[in-house]
Amino acid sequence: MINIDAHNHVKGKSIYLDDIQEIHGTLYALPFDATVAHAKIKSIDLESALKTKGIVTILKAKDIPGQNQIGGIFPDEPLLADGEVHFRGQVIAIIVGTTEHHCRVAAKRIKVVYDELPVITDPREAQKQNQLIMPPRQFRLGDTTSAWSQCDYIFEGRSDVNGQEHLYIETQGAYARPKEDGSIIVSSSTQGPTAVQRMVAQVLGIPMHKVEIDTVRLGGGFGGKEDQATPWAVMVALAAQHLHKPVKMSMHRMDDMRMTGKRHPYSADFKIGLTKDLKILAYEVTHYQNAGAAADLSPAVMERTLFHSTNAYYIPNVIAKAYSCKTNLPPNTAFRGFGGPQGKFAIEAAIVKAAESLGVSPAEIQKANLVKEGDELSYGQILTQVEAQNAWETCMKNYDYESQKQRVAEFNSKNTRFKKGLAIQPICFGISFTNTMMNHARALVHIYHDGSVVVSTGGVEMGQGLNTKMLQIVVETFGINASKVRIESTNTLRVANTSPTAASAGADLNGKALQMACNALLERLKAVAQKEFTDQIIELKDEMVFANEVKTELTWKDLVLRAFTQRVALTENAHYATPTIHYDKTKEKGHPFAYHVYGTAIHEVTVDCLKGTYDFDSVNIVHDFGKSMNPTIDNGQIEGGLVQGMGWMTLEEIIYNDQGRLVSNALSTYKVPDIYSVPKVINIQHLETEGHELAIKKSKAVGEPPLMYGIGAYFAIRNAIKAFNPNADLAVNAPYTPEKVLMDLYKKS
Ligand code: MTE
Ligand code: HPA
Ligand code: MOS
Repeated sequence: MINIDAHNHVKGKSIYLDDIQEIHGTLYALPFDATVAHAKIKSIDLESALKTKGIVTILKAKDIPGQNQIGGIFPDEPLLADGEVHFRGQVIAIIVGTTEHHCRVAAKRIKVVYDELPVITDPREAQKQNQLIMPPRQFRLGDTTSAWSQCDYIFEGRSDVNGQEHLYIETQGAYARPKEDGSIIVSSSTQGPTAVQRMVAQVLGIPMHKVEIDTVRLGGGFGGKEDQATPWAVMVALAAQHLHKPVKMSMHRMDDMRMTGKRHPYSADFKIGLTKDLKILAYEVTHYQNAGAAADLSPAVMERTLFHSTNAYYIPNVIAKAYSCKTNLPPNTAFRGFGGPQGKFAIEAAIVKAAESLGVSPAEIQKANLVKEGDELSYGQILTQVEAQNAWETCMKNYDYESQKQRVAEFNSKNTRFKKGLAIQPICFGISFTNTMMNHARALVHIYHDGSVVVSTGGVEMGQGLNTKMLQIVVETFGINASKVRIESTNTLRVANTSPTAASAGADLNGKALQMACNALLERLKAVAQKEFTDQIIELKDEMVFANEVKTELTWKDLVLRAFTQRVALTENAHYATPTIHYDKTKEKGHPFAYHVYGTAIHEVTVDCLKGTYDFDSVNIVHDFGKSMNPTIDNGQIEGGLVQGMGWMTLEEIIYNDQGRLVSNALSTYKVPDIYSVPKVINIQHLETEGHELAIKKSKAVGEPPLMYGIGAYFAIRNAIKAFNPNADLAVNAPYTPEKVLMDLYKKS
């Protein structure tokens, strides 16, 4: 089935937040933000701004009737700064006017006097000053202390990896309309309608039943709208409550880039120990996560870094520790992979360090340590249905890696200006929210008596194709045409208490609930047909009833009408909660993931050793989709995730100066992959596997895992540099921008 949004997207007919028809009298809201990263606010002068033409009001912290608090995990984040600011871009006031232009004029007239305080932007510095979001956490397996003495080789090092701007094409935005009795409806470009509902209620001081959140679709979220879509929705809701008028906000790109958090930069220290046959016996890693000025989702992101600290490798003795460090940057947040990529980057850096020191290929170490059936990871989960070796070997064989290696070696021996580099990137990614409590979902299905069907789930469509997969479930269960089914917006009145669409689990969780609802309705409809076709096996397909595999005269439409006239319920609401998962934080042990996703990618890059620029010749992937329910959509997720991961590793460089000002604050200074920088060839092969019972229709979650193939891009470039400048002592510090590549090409050893 092609993506059900494809036609409307191409024609520009799809409705995003800013396309919603505005009600007459709609006002505009503009957040007014801090221009210093850490300060006490001595005074705010709004007088001249309030007199500006078109300005209706300017709201400050004191205008909040409920709590001035939007922290999701910890209550440490005010909606509006009150007395002090902790990062540049923190919102101090909300300007409301008849047009956005008037608001921008007024913003220039607000005068804030600050008493500036010291600014910290570096996570290690924050840790030294004990500026932590929460106490550190540590995962432990085996006994590293005694393992070191059994190692033949031990290496230590450091790796650094920068953040990443989400760059969803649709910026943050929300539109609030007051309803009667103090209730309110807010359209929000959010991955988490319930999170928005909860915070609107909390800040406005009203119960959740007075708040309706509606989300049609997002022009991308990538984690950036899991928690950080909330403040803007709360702001327009607050203004609407004050003014009894509809209020809208749709952010400009530079405002969005400046005010919102990004992927977390991490710095890590590692120590890795191996035996003579290249088995990794021990690994210790300490991660310093740059959380920014408030917790946001950092504790959960840090947890996933620890879960993925050994990537796809079995290491019997592990200590993985992490600090969530509080700095004066916008709070960093969820981003595709959710801390997993940073955990994997550090272990890959450690393996490369060991390989280079020993004069072997990193691939030899990677291959010798891939996880197998029954292996225990540092958090106690025993792996089953493991496909790591299968994916690796299939990849090597199907793409003929041996010839590729020879071809590259030959190329490098014959060329001086251009050098090629290869890298192999295996992945192993856990599927489920790491917080067990969040792994549940609901679906609501109505069959109308004309035979048409409408579906609501807690899942949000953000371009990943969720709605198409939901539609497939309905169509396949009922045996009806897609034109009979409509997937409705995600709405908190129809489906309540939802988890955000995140953790790649959107299709699994909502799809399983939807399948349960559809199956319950199917049973009821079959019972109605059974009255006519007694003792026969009833099936529904091609919009017809089949009895004992023979097509009857009874159509889907007539069957539904018959059920209705017999007063059979044609509505079903189902609830699904992932079985088998559990986790004990006091022991840091458990079985947090329903299953893992595996795969292997081979990167080939050519570096221009005169310019420091590079081109990716190919990325060859073997990926474990289980039994993909929609190969076209899933291949799209692999391509998009891969390229997004490669961007993070190569071109995309977030720069804050030491005063916490975002220097890479627009698309002129922040470079993302474009059609010229994507690999010339991307091959994707589906690994033949059984799939997993806990995956929807055995079709494994696909949203985040492929991003981590991108890590190989960094190490492929490094290998090309090594071919040019073999003795250079290179740091590991992503992204590998052309500037950094050039410096490393000519770095003295
Ligand atoms: N694909 C598109 N086109 N747009 C997105 O915003 N988000 C990614 C991934 N793929 C995203 C995407 C992230 S971060 C997640 S967690 C998953 O989609 C969420 O959707 P799923 O759970 O349905 O896979
Ligand atoms: N992944 C993504 N988003 C999340 C998670 C997770 O594990 N936990 C809470 N939000
Ligand atoms: Mo994705 S980072 O879990 O929204």
